[in-house]
Amino acid sequence: MILDQNDFAFPMASHPNILVGPFKQVIPFDNLPLKGALKDEQLTIIENGGVVIENGSIVAVGKYYELRIKYPMADIEFVDQPSVLLPGLIDAHTHICFAGSRAQDYNLKLQGKTYLEIAREGGGIWRSVQHTRKATEKNLTFDVLQRIARHLSEGVTTIEIKSGYGLTVEDELKMLRAIKAASLQTKATLIPTCLAAHTLPKDFQGTHADYLLWMANELLPKIKADVLSNRVDIFVEETAFSIKDAKKYLQIAKDLGFAITVHADQFTPGSASLAASMGAVSADHLEASQDDDIAALAASNTVAMVLPGASLGLGIPFAPARKLLNAGCCLAIASDWNPGSAPMGDLLIQASLLGVYEKLSFAETFAGLTYRAAKALSLTDRGSITAGKLAHMVAFPINDHREILYHQGKMKPFKVWA
Ligand code: NIG
Ligand code: FE
Repeated sequence: MILDQNDFAFPMASHPNILVGPFKQVIPFDNLPLKGALKDEQLTIIENGGVVIENGSIVAVGKYYELRIKYPMADIEFVDQPSVLLPGLIDAHTHICFAGSRAQDYNLKLQGKTYLEIAREGGGIWRSVQHTRKATEKNLTFDVLQRIARHLSEGVTTIEIKSGYGLTVEDELKMLRAIKAASLQTKATLIPTCLAAHTLPKDFQGTHADYLLWMANELLPKIKADVLSNRVDIFVEETAFSIKDAKKYLQIAKDLGFAITVHADQFTPGSASLAASMGAVSADHLEASQDDDIAALAASNTVAMVLPGASLGLGIPFAPARKLLNAGCCLAIASDWNPGSAPMGDLLIQASLLGVYEKLSFAETFAGLTYRAAKALSLTDRGSITAGKLAHMVAFPINDHREILYHQGKMKPFKVWA
């Protein structure tokens, strides 16, 4: 689907209000708990609903015909297709700023090599770093905008994007500038994150600790000064950085005023607990998390973010989403869209498949794609269809919300507001 200007609701100056609807169902995802399991019975479902928008923000939500009476001067954006309206989806973990392909690595996976083996043998992240270093900032912006357009057409209106394929001060800055340039050319909101601590680049002379210190001293202050990102991520893993080195680096980032997040427990447990103890906004992956990691996340304000696309890309089990929810975690679901472990990049398909394997309710799956994902990005202005929030919304061409997961993500929204 191609989105053009007419697909987005912007009010005219002379008629500030627009009434959008009617929808068979509006599911606002309002008044729901931030943490823990959710039953579908907890959802508010407004039958024959509508939404009043003013200057891109939501003014009122309710029954369509009541809103027509209450807002008689509103312009009408009539929705003639029976449909279900949900908050715009939020993908709170991607690596869609990259150049080149990793089809070669994927083929090695098909022959039975593991992600860690491929990384140790010179493939993996390093392969993408070599391609990305060669790309210009303009090329990267162009490529990232193509991927954003796809995401937006599939209902994803807020997208976190990490650097991490530059791994020098200049190349990391180039990536973050490319993301910033892209953000000026799209209706989607982009949230950039510095992932200079993705892996130790093979051409770096020195230890892991030396590399992190270099990034902490040279790169992070520049990112602050140029307002390129306020978030710092690190990959804690055998082929990346140790818990000890991560702790020091994350503390420096925190002291500089960055929000911190961690690629945690993807293959080796222990770093989700670190994320929780350091007040990270999220701990992401969690495929290998043990009971103590899960308990630490549940007791903290750190969002537990699972990335089913990485499991599908690597052919490994999903993170224990059901267990995380039952333990009381705030569970978000993101795509991890990247050239290596998660090349598919279809958030709705991935979340749907996670749901059927992990036995997640509709409410849990979409909470993880909306207001709980907003929490992971520290965004308080979106994630639900309620007065005062941004009018980021998606409409699916169906009568009943249960059809969405039933189609396993292949049914896409027919209209997206951002
Ligand atoms: O989240 N695990 C580390 N980083 C990415 C993969 C990046 C890559 O392989 O290019 C991930 O899966
Ligand atoms: Fe990732």
